[in-house]
Amino acid sequence: MVGINILTFCWLLFQSVAGSDDFENDVYEKSINQTLLWGPYRSNCYFGITPRYIDESPFVMGLMWFDSHLTNGISSMRHFVDENDRMKKYGWNAFDPRIGGEEVIIDEENNVNLSLSFVKSHDGLNWALRVKGKPLDLNKKSTTSIVLYMQQQGDANTNELLKTRDEEHFVLKGKSTQLGKYDISIKDNEGRYYKDPTLKSMKIAEGADCSQMSHLSLNVPDHESWKARDIFQTIIGDSIKDIVQEQGSMDNFDNRLTPSLYQIRNIYNLPPGNFHYVQKTFDLSDTEGFEFDMIFNSAQSKQRIESYNEISSLITSALNEINIKFDKIFTIDSEEKRNFALETLSNLLGGIGYFHGTQIIDRTTVFDEDQFQEIKLINGKEEGPYSLFTSVPSRSKFPRGFYWDEGFHLLQIMEYDLDLAFEIMASWVDLIDEDGWVAREVILGDEARSRVPAEFTVQSPKIANPPTLLLAFSEMLQRVTGNVDNFHCDESTEDDTIGDFTQDGNRLENNPDLIKEYARKVYPKLLKHYNWFRRTQKGVIDEYSDIFEEEGIWDSIHKDEVFKWVGRTATHCLPSGLDDYPRAPTPDIAELHVDALSWVGIMTRSMKQIANILNQENDEKLYAQIESNIIENLETLHWNPKSGSYCDITIDEEYGDSREFICHDGYISLLPFALKLIPKDSPNLDKVVSLIADEDKLFSPFGILSLSKQDEYFGRGENYWRGPIWMNINYLVLDALKYYYPEITSTQKSKRTPAAKLCNELSNRLIKNVYRVWKHSGYCYENYSPIDGHGMGTEHFTGWTALIVNILGRS
Ligand SMILES: *[C@@H]1O[C@H](CO)[C@@H](O)[C@H](O)[C@H]1NC(C)=O
Ligand SMILES: *[C@@H]1O[C@H](CO)[C@@H](O)[C@H](O)[C@H]1NC(C)=O
Repeated sequence: MVGINILTFCWLLFQSVAGSDDFENDVYEKSINQTLLWGPYRSNCYFGITPRYIDESPFVMGLMWFDSHLTNGISSMRHFVDENDRMKKYGWNAFDPRIGGEEVIIDEENNVNLSLSFVKSHDGLNWALRVKGKPLDLNKKSTTSIVLYMQQQGDANTNELLKTRDEEHFVLKGKSTQLGKYDISIKDNEGRYYKDPTLKSMKIAEGADCSQMSHLSLNVPDHESWKARDIFQTIIGDSIKDIVQEQGSMDNFDNRLTPSLYQIRNIYNLPPGNFHYVQKTFDLSDTEGFEFDMIFNSAQSKQRIESYNEISSLITSALNEINIKFDKIFTIDSEEKRNFALETLSNLLGGIGYFHGTQIIDRTTVFDEDQFQEIKLINGKEEGPYSLFTSVPSRSKFPRGFYWDEGFHLLQIMEYDLDLAFEIMASWVDLIDEDGWVAREVILGDEARSRVPAEFTVQSPKIANPPTLLLAFSEMLQRVTGNVDNFHCDESTEDDTIGDFTQDGNRLENNPDLIKEYARKVYPKLLKHYNWFRRTQKGVIDEYSDIFEEEGIWDSIHKDEVFKWVGRTATHCLPSGLDDYPRAPTPDIAELHVDALSWVGIMTRSMKQIANILNQENDEKLYAQIESNIIENLETLHWNPKSGSYCDITIDEEYGDSREFICHDGYISLLPFALKLIPKDSPNLDKVVSLIADEDKLFSPFGILSLSKQDEYFGRGENYWRGPIWMNINYLVLDALKYYYPEITSTQKSKRTPAAKLCNELSNRLIKNVYRVWKHSGYCYENYSPIDGHGMGTEHFTGWTALIVNILGRS
């Protein structure tokens, strides 16, 4: 074990005080780079590995499987996670990207129960994958044909992956300019390759023999390797054609040999290359099924993983460590709910991906501000390559970066591993461009693009999205800087070894200087982002001058602090993140959106906090002024005394030009509260809380509805943000309740206030419903029905729905 003990670490800290920040940063970075180097970072695969930040010469691999006993079973070959596969269940029982974990896949169509255990050496450089398969139904005759593919990418003159001879097991030796030398071995532990007992041989042509492992090495261009499934199917198709030709006809084909038809072989006489297929077709007629290991060992590591027992014990200790870490952070009384929470968090963490490639951006199409038709982004051009380390909303439907979702993912991840959350956030901040823009969806490279409907691949630098990353960063800073006093090098921690990378997760929390240093570095970039948002989403206030003069409020309005979402259409406001939430029925250039203003309020508050940490007093004052102006504008412009709620506004031209409030009770009216922008002593506070608690409007037995039951648009049209319950906003509401009513979290007994009851009730209802649905279907969902609480939208949505873990674990 590479170990620096705690005293050394304290010495490092001392050094940093003495002024060698760089050194300390290096130690921190090196450790995090190593522990997070390998992971199942191809989020869109059931299982696929690519290393993080290795872009020139990565080693990539993927796992596929099908039942080759069925004619055309190959058409149900699994590779990319797809809702249409109708898996009974899939996902991580337990996972931590630093440690590894266990994924289970129940594939009824292919009659197989697969467990995939992924573990790493303590230095993070070596890893092993144990694949275990068992039949689901013993009476159903089946095989499981497992296909592993792997490739050493990069210039073939300096990077290679070759099969070695004379080894007891299957061994590949690799060389990567970035990863150094390594070797891969694949060893069977249990089970047997398929062979019909009534036949002497399973061979039907040269290489077409399912009773043996098949291996094919070939050249595949790096950018095509993600099409491993298509390539495999094409080769099999050609192989079958070849066999048919040889045999003249398939009329008399002996069905007992079918699995051999689907065995990969070198029919084109291809020379070996850096891409490899390894196929094993296992007999599933035995309850024990099969098991094999794949091991990757780097020559740069002294912690080689060799034996079966070593892998077994790595798996056991990985699961142990995860459980211990989880229980240290989250307190959940019920064992069943705890397992639900562990699984849900693990699926959020198991969805974390590393993406690298070009992004398609349309910088020329202009949004005509008077027209509110859908704008086709037809001038997209490839830019980049860029890199992004991020979690994803759902591996099946949304395996890529989403700006609006990510801040919420981070709120969950930082509870478990602050350093990891920080790495993700920093990667997003890297994407902020010269103008200060970040794309709403980050879709890097062909593999990521292949999962996106064409109309959504192109991003426009005119379009914004709720800046949740700053919300998360602000939360992070609060944790770190509020925690300075908690750090001491006392005896109780002396046993810890900092060099044991699996113990990482809260170094930043224990060492605020690191994050301060980072904040200093990115401050200019965040400022650009902030200014970009303010500049591009600015509302038009002049149109209201006569109206507000007449109302007598013109002079008290802060004219710079009015905002709207650019790119809204008559039916949708995609930039707001709340797509079909009702807005003014007739779009108008003068419209001002209360949620856009609220989000700028949050950005401003975060900038203020960063300026404070960096001792930028003048900037801090400036942000404080803007924040206070925004809060005042929320009251003067958007508060409708008549309805007692926050509303969008527009100009009503029919009735002699007046301010018209567009009021639809729901998430938009709650945002100033949810984002803690209402002054604590404001009389509006009670009104908003009453609305939240109103069971005839928003408070359902399953959580807070996105739109009031009494609203004319409730449940209508696409019914996306028109009633269904979403975890992200429910989470913010809970958080805000605790902020406004500190008695909720106080340890005193005076907890029976209405706000405390509301908070309690809301979290209980959310937990009860999400858990109930999970127990019934095995999955978390994108949102939940306002009528009966059932899961709606995307299945296996462990993006922000995973915030239920914080709600469970903190209550
Ligand atoms: C960690 O990885 C990043 C991204 O590749 C790289 O820029 C940085 O130099 C690495 N840091 C250390 C100390 O190796
Ligand atoms: C799948 O296999 C694992 C062990 O490998 C077992 O714990 C689990 O119960 C099995 N699930 C089903 C549905 O058969």
